[in-house]
Amino acid sequence: MNLLITTICNRKCRFCFAKMRLAGKQATPFMSRKMINDVMDMLQKEDGRQLRLLGGEPTLHPEFSEIVDAAIERGLDVLVFSNGMMPEKSIAAIERHPVEKISILCNISPQADDHPSLIKRREEALKRLGCRMVPGVTISNIEEEIDIGQYLESIEKFGMKKQIRVGIAQPIVGKDNEHIHPKDYPKIGGIIVKMARQCIEKEVLLGFDCGMTPCMFSGDQWEVVMTCTSGYRSQCAPIIDLGPDGNLWHCFPLSEVFNEKLSSFSKRTEIVELYEKRMKPFHQFGCSPACVRCKFKRRGLCRGGCLAHAIQGANYSGK
Ligand SMILES: C[S@@+](CC[C@H](N)C(=O)[O-])C[C@H]1O[C@@H](n2cnc3c(N)ncnc32)[C@H](O)[C@@H]1O
Repeated sequence: MNLLITTICNRKCRFCFAKMRLAGKQATPFMSRKMINDVMDMLQKEDGRQLRLLGGEPTLHPEFSEIVDAAIERGLDVLVFSNGMMPEKSIAAIERHPVEKISILCNISPQADDHPSLIKRREEALKRLGCRMVPGVTISNIEEEIDIGQYLESIEKFGMKKQIRVGIAQPIVGKDNEHIHPKDYPKIGGIIVKMARQCIEKEVLLGFDCGMTPCMFSGDQWEVVMTCTSGYRSQCAPIIDLGPDGNLWHCFPLSEVFNEKLSSFSKRTEIVELYEKRMKPFHQFGCSPACVRCKFKRRGLCRGGCLAHAIQGANYSGK
């Protein structure tokens, strides 16, 4: 389960699928310590080992350091989804704990106009926390190629983990954000293969975010992708995100439909089971009309890409 501990963010990524849940649109900007403790109780009841913090920008929560300390005191590991543009207090809070206890997925996608002072903050975080970080990029536009070379340099310069997580921008059901349409997936395949070749040269692995499909790649491209990754999964399963107001959703692309309340459940597995059951009919469609005849999908090698496309295709707008 991912905890949206704040709806405040210091960036404006054009493709952001969390934008409907960010400050201004929602009344509660910070998740309460009580709610976070309740989730930790829930996790630990089911042998959960990891607390996953995101936002907005989670390091902007005024009690970020207390949240992290409490999780580690309970024996949990912490994964922070951050853009790296952190206040000094949060850098120091992370630095205090062993590297293996807190890791950071650092979104360094370039699609935002960042103030120079924020870029400086990220430099500082990279210097001090680089060894805990996996850099992540989200491709949101086929005309605007992301230069992976600079990320490979950052990995070396700041001693970051030798991995880059790549994702494609997914839509928000019923809303508008910059995203990749499935008709452009073969072009995305080409972009990823170009990245992969650069990664292979530097012995950096590519990891993949959810909603990717095998049909993005031709046979030759597959060979390149397989050489640069520790595993390619075409997955789409309930992530389960929790907002500061106690609302739950399947994942950000589906954040505006099928909301539930945390207070209705006593176990995380109950939430996952409910969403699996509810989403099952949409998985049959896949993200494009071609999915119905697809051999990868028939053989269970692909789940049909991001469910948001399937739901938009079915024109579902229910709650
Ligand atoms: C919503 S952000 C919040 C946490 C933090 N502020 C950050 O930038 O990582 C979490 C992750 O979602 C990814 N993301 C945002 N919008 C997306 C979209 N439309 N499709 C796929 N991933 C997206 C970001 O690249 C980032 O890695």
